[in-house]
Amino acid sequence: MKALILSGGKGTRLRPLTYTGAKQLVPVANKPILWYGIEEMVTAGITDIGIIISPETGQEVQTKTGDGELFGANITYILQEKPAGLAQAVQVARPFLEDSPFVMYLGDNLIQQGDLSHFLKQFSIEHQDALILLRSVSNPSAFGVATVDENGRVLQLIEKPKVPASNLALVGVYFFSNLIHDAINCIQPSARGELEITDAIQCLIDQQKRVTACKLEGWWLDTGKKDDLLEANRLILDTYLEKSITGEIDAQSSVIGRVQIGAGSKVINSTIRGPVVIGNNCYLENCFIGPYSSIADNVILIDTDIEHTVVLENAKIAGIHQRIIDSVIGQRAQLTVAPRRPKALRFMIGDDCQIELT
Ligand code: G1P
Repeated sequence: MKALILSGGKGTRLRPLTYTGAKQLVPVANKPILWYGIEEMVTAGITDIGIIISPETGQEVQTKTGDGELFGANITYILQEKPAGLAQAVQVARPFLEDSPFVMYLGDNLIQQGDLSHFLKQFSIEHQDALILLRSVSNPSAFGVATVDENGRVLQLIEKPKVPASNLALVGVYFFSNLIHDAINCIQPSARGELEITDAIQCLIDQQKRVTACKLEGWWLDTGKKDDLLEANRLILDTYLEKSITGEIDAQSSVIGRVQIGAGSKVINSTIRGPVVIGNNCYLENCFIGPYSSIADNVILIDTDIEHTVVLENAKIAGIHQRIIDSVIGQRAQLTVAPRRPKALRFMIGDDCQIELT
């Protein structure tokens, strides 16, 4: 069994964060989203992992993630020159996949830990040609949508239908036998100009191959947008964070609940209420850090209240006299109060930023 993790794409819905990096490397609870997928594979016993990368962000993904040693896996990077679709990514990966069965995992998806092992077992025992995961959603038009009969047999799959026949979305995790390669050779590019994996699976169904759908009961997040990213951050902190304090906390500070503070970080006269993760070499003074916040390495926070917020590396926030909530603050961003006159707001805001003031 091999794994193919997709880490290409442009990440347009996560701009501006993705102007300077891959969407799959945006951290959730201080760990790149992509790494959760890799860890899931290794937990399920799959260590031969191919990662699809794009020319724009491939180098960064490769440098950060390495050859797999970090995870106890063996990682092969496979370049997809253009974002020509998920099925085209499988075509490009054929020399890596050979005729092995494989799990395909979209690198910006997060599923509950342990679920992958469970479905892998089912796929292997029942000798399926494809096993897909479905989940009820409120906005099916944004996904591949399945129609299934009362026995759970898949009747039809349509990619992003305008008028969806059900509310069952295709989750970005698929299990395939080598028959998927012939199916991909039968399909044509869709209206958005991509070779859709959804169409290839439909082709297997049309040929009466063994395609099963399972309903995913655990949580699933496609972290492509800000609110989804914050929700993923909340869920991961809520479910997995364990207390661990390596940094220094002075006597005037109070740390309540599950909080992680990394090496070299200093907390002065502040209150931190978990679940909260703070990386290495951060400096916090006169702050309140509320639940569901993730602060990456080298962040400076002074006279600041934040809650349910993700702050990326090397950012600085100081003297903002209103609580910051539901926010994502990018790498090296600075949010400060200057004593200068006239008293006014002064901005240097990058493209596609969103700022809400009250
Ligand atoms: C892709 C698939 C879609 C699936 C979704 C899950 O969509 O094409 O069928 O439901 O991932 O995240 P995309 O992310 O390319 O819009």
